[in-house]
Amino acid sequence: MEKFIDLISRRVSQAFEEAGLEGSLGKVTLSNRPDLCEYQCNGAMPAAKKAHRPPLELAESVAEKLQGEAMFSKVEAVKPGFLNLTVSPSVLRDYVAGMATAPSFGVEPEAAPKTIVLDYGGPNVAKPLHVGHLRSAIIGESIKRIDRFFGNKVIGDIHMGDWGLQMGLIIEEVHERHPELPYFDPTYTGEYPAEAPFTISELEEIYPTASAKSKVDEDFARRAHDATYRLQTGDRGYRAMWKHIMRISTEDLRKNYDNLDVHFDVWLGESDAQPYIPPMLETMKAKGIVTESEGALVVDVQEESDTKEVPPCILVKSDGATLYATTDLATLVQRMKDFQPDEVLYLTDKRQALHFEQVFRAARKGGLVPEHVVLKHLGFGTMNGKDGKPFKTREGGVMRLERLIGEITDYVRQKITENQVVSAEEVENTARLIAMAALKYGDLSNQPTKDYVFDLERFAAFEGNTGPYILYTIVRIKSILHKYSAAVALEAMQPAETKEAKDLMLALTRLSDSLQVAYTDNAPNAICAYIYDLAGAANKFYHETRILAEPDPAKQAGYVALMDLTRRVLETCIDLLGFSAPERM
Ligand code: ARG
Repeated sequence: MEKFIDLISRRVSQAFEEAGLEGSLGKVTLSNRPDLCEYQCNGAMPAAKKAHRPPLELAESVAEKLQGEAMFSKVEAVKPGFLNLTVSPSVLRDYVAGMATAPSFGVEPEAAPKTIVLDYGGPNVAKPLHVGHLRSAIIGESIKRIDRFFGNKVIGDIHMGDWGLQMGLIIEEVHERHPELPYFDPTYTGEYPAEAPFTISELEEIYPTASAKSKVDEDFARRAHDATYRLQTGDRGYRAMWKHIMRISTEDLRKNYDNLDVHFDVWLGESDAQPYIPPMLETMKAKGIVTESEGALVVDVQEESDTKEVPPCILVKSDGATLYATTDLATLVQRMKDFQPDEVLYLTDKRQALHFEQVFRAARKGGLVPEHVVLKHLGFGTMNGKDGKPFKTREGGVMRLERLIGEITDYVRQKITENQVVSAEEVENTARLIAMAALKYGDLSNQPTKDYVFDLERFAAFEGNTGPYILYTIVRIKSILHKYSAAVALEAMQPAETKEAKDLMLALTRLSDSLQVAYTDNAPNAICAYIYDLAGAANKFYHETRILAEPDPAKQAGYVALMDLTRRVLETCIDLLGFSAPERM
């Protein structure tokens, strides 16, 4: 469907032309004086400059062309030359009723759907998930859903950190504790045990222990490096041990991401890129862009227009080791081959911006990625504590994701138990849904690049600009709809008779504008801002209108149709943000 504001602009542009003025000046915007009108057009001002005539006179001549026009119930030219527009309730009704029956509420899909690889989550295997990975998962999941809503094909890849030194550290630590295991016996030729020699909780203890040890014990650090090397060069026993680590950790990761309602399409990682490294290096060398610098192989990526230094992208270190950038370049080769994407989008902390700049430039220079393929890094800010520093536990440690979710859920459970609206069997699930809304909306309502402060009481409040407030609005609407005995008839929608009904309808028409911004700018915060407004309009309407007590059945059916559409729009929007509403709260 054409956007409502475009529909109006088109009609006003036509009137400009009829008045002998340039049509493009008839562009309409939302009124910044909602007390006077709903939309406005300021085009008479620039038109007046060109024509050397008073703007008010021109605005009046356009207004004249619009008199009697069905789209508006009122058109006024006011000083110094504004056009104030009020739309007709029946045109608005028809538009909103059209939204109610159109697929995707009439939001136009992408004209040329793209294939997008979305690299998000990015957890490091065997290290517990912490809040630093939280934002990547939350923002990425929302962007994935938004991109799909517009008809694109999106491949969400978790891109695990599963190949670096952390693996060597774990293997070496297990080696020290259990030297008798067959993985460490080079003469062993039999099958390795199917069961891992550790559980996930042991694994989570092993890594920090080993990491701390490597910092004080040089010999251990060297052995861990050797173990990493042996793993990477294909040692049979070390590979078998690595597989155990992978299986146990991915099971745990999957559980954590499922709890967050974050779902990846492919579970690839740095290890999967390894086979692509040698051919990638060959391609780069053949292009003649690889140079040697102090024994390392590098690609110079500085560009003339750079105002600051962009260091060369290091492909291979002097000791033969490959790095983060090497893996990312090889991963691009794999992605081009397996998915032929039009766009590859990466979601990490914004402190990785330089890394991605180097990788993208090296990939372009090496011809690994065709010109038309868009490479984009979406760097986000930090989630801070109330002290303005990166969020920590009360004891000052790194906050684990599981614990954070647990704490929010506990807080919400307490609250809804006190309210006593939710039955005992429903409490757990409801608390979980509200906790997710609090956490995700608290994050997504900020511009991704900004840092924000995690504030449990504020995020979990049932009033204000919060996820739970949005859920509360949906739950209220659902409760009215439950009490209404007849079926909801979408065609029963009536022209608005009150300001509250009209404001709600006008808010509904803006859905497409907001989703479009969220989509083009990778900005889920645009959806949050929209549903906060929509929920506000819905609550005002609900307060001022007797819905269930309305004696006129046609009017009542109209109210119900409007409430139902509002609920559906809100539920669609929160689904795009990655959470959902309970039945009661
Ligand atoms: N594992 C990395 C980290 O914890 C994030 C990976 C992001 N994706 C990528 N292709 N580099 O920082």
